[in-house]
Amino acid sequence: MKELYDMIFKRKSFRRFNDTLTLSEEELQDINQEIKNLNPLVDDIEVKYKIVPREKTTSKRGEYCLLIYSEEKEHYLLNIGYMFEQLDLYLASKNIGVCWYGMGKVSEPEYNNLKYVIMLALGKGEDSQFRKDYKKSKRKETSDIWKGDLSLEIADFVKYAPSACNTQPWRVVCENNTLKIYRTTDVKSIMPKEKVPFYNSIDMGIFLYFLELTLSHNEFSFQKTLSPENDGSNLISIATYTLKAKKNRP
Ligand SMILES: Cc1cc2nc3c(=O)[nH]c(=O)nc-3n(C[C@H](O)[C@H](O)[C@H](O)COP(=O)(O)O)c2cc1C
Repeated sequence: MKELYDMIFKRKSFRRFNDTLTLSEEELQDINQEIKNLNPLVDDIEVKYKIVPREKTTSKRGEYCLLIYSEEKEHYLLNIGYMFEQLDLYLASKNIGVCWYGMGKVSEPEYNNLKYVIMLALGKGEDSQFRKDYKKSKRKETSDIWKGDLSLEIADFVKYAPSACNTQPWRVVCENNTLKIYRTTDVKSIMPKEKVPFYNSIDMGIFLYFLELTLSHNEFSFQKTLSPENDGSNLISIATYTLKAKKNRP
């Protein structure tokens, strides 16, 4: 857990892969093993994946692309973001570069009756290619995304979660040890408008994982309730976290 938390500050979207580096058979096996260990956000949603050479997709980046397929149940996009962000962070710890790649297209839109959702471009990197100073990565001011209690030492870190076109659709209201997590629909982006809810829902799953990792790192335990899916207007409720006293403390 601690190691993954540290990766919040090291990871970045890899856009320039060094083509002279390749993933070993062992590393590919390790990736497959790690995917088996990912924690889902929602238990009963079937998810499958395939790792294919980049050339089998429209991606121009990475040695391989990991294609993710899912059953389309309630919260399935949150679930994909939540699960595969764990892999993004884990691979940073192994110097394997990743880029969530919403623009990529695949030749197989279905796999075992599950629908294609998104891909991650992957390739071996060097330690020096990863993020050195997370504070230099472009993110909103904390006050733009987090209202209420700022004393938890969480807000300034969770905001470094990756999101499609860096839209950062998360908004948080923190009061009386309760975190209310919303997705704003008021985003400006070059994404086609009709695609925004799809990609921003994956982003929200990524954000929930960052939030939980940061809460655990700060020894908070919590109870989480996902909100029913709804189209809502400006702010769509995603989840509520009720924080308990810090672990091991009265
Ligand atoms: C769901 C999702 C889809 C993304 N799609 C693309 C993409 O198609 N092309 C791309 O270059 N980056 C893509 N990204 C990467 C974002 O642009 C990136 O996360 C954001 O700019 C923040 O930068 P960072 O990840 O380096 O911290 C995507 C990220 C997410 C979470």
